[in-house]
Amino acid sequence: MVSYKEIGLVNTREMFDKAVKGGYAIPAFNFNNMEQLQAIIMAAAELKSPVILQISKGARNYANAILLRYMAEGAVQFAKSLGWENPQIVLHLDHGDSFELCKDCVDKGFSSVMIDGSALPYDENVALTKKVVEYAHKYDVTVEAELGVLAGVEDEVSAEESHYTRPEEVIDFTSKTGCDSLAISIGTSHGAYKFKPEQCTRDPKTGRLVPPPLAFDVLHEIEKKLPGFPIVLHGSSSVPQEYVDTINSFGGRLPDAVGIPEEQLREASKSAVCKINIDSDSRLAMTAAVRQYLSEHPDAFDPRKYLGPAREEMKKLYMHKITDVLGSDGKAE
Ligand code: G3H
Ligand code: 13P
Ligand code: ZN
Repeated sequence: MVSYKEIGLVNTREMFDKAVKGGYAIPAFNFNNMEQLQAIIMAAAELKSPVILQISKGARNYANAILLRYMAEGAVQFAKSLGWENPQIVLHLDHGDSFELCKDCVDKGFSSVMIDGSALPYDENVALTKKVVEYAHKYDVTVEAELGVLAGVEDEVSAEESHYTRPEEVIDFTSKTGCDSLAISIGTSHGAYKFKPEQCTRDPKTGRLVPPPLAFDVLHEIEKKLPGFPIVLHGSSSVPQEYVDTINSFGGRLPDAVGIPEEQLREASKSAVCKINIDSDSRLAMTAAVRQYLSEHPDAFDPRKYLGPAREEMKKLYMHKITDVLGSDGKAE
């Protein structure tokens, strides 16, 4: 049993409380490798932004659970070495799908876990979430739960269709389970293809897809039912079109990739939404930089040469999200 407190991590409780009251959101960035982690920590340390490091089940399978856990421990020391004296870093399990997986993370030093029972019938979601909360709270680990289903396909997360969260269920769910935050479905989805072309209109000037707006009415209904309760948005990448264009012009093929416009995330950050999940944008930043570097330097074969620019591009992206979208800069001085 390793306590996250011993390794300098924090849980989400105080962080979310301040974010809801302060009208900003905490970035939750996924990581699978060293360059992503370095870029996240460099951006958060430079801007003194609280940050959530997320590890999915797919990341554990890819990079090894133990190694990732020690990388997060190293991240705290790395942040301090960059001059961030009091780093506010959460280590979070993203989309935990069983009690056993959540327990393993609590036991191995995570400070927060998500139990995603959103695909289960309501009563089973309640029972599973409650069981995870009871275990995690013994160790002061915070728990995110989910109600409503996001569409989208990723390695380990997939659903054909989205179903908005039903506001009439949120009071019953949070009081029965005791969860610390609630991920809701209001039209975001995972991956780089968040909307089908037929759900969008097309900008006549650029020919690009314009996605339908998020269901802010559902968010506001939920806020009314649960005043001050921390709300989470998954699937919140914006799929920057510059990256899509770079990828496509250097040999890639991502036709009609589309994300959530940043103005809408900016608006959500000011509400009870206090955690915004971003993974795909970092994948796109990395892929764009690597494709461009390798195309322009066909003789390159030292991975540091192409992963270095990729890391720089990801750092730029994370800093932009923190400062210009979520507003969490300077909140962890
Ligand atoms: O929500 C999903 C995250 O983007 C993680 O994706 O399962 O491919 O690691 P992954
Ligand atoms: P994106 O695919 O939009 O980056 O969402 C990531 C996410 O929700 C991780 O849980
Ligand atoms: Zn997610």
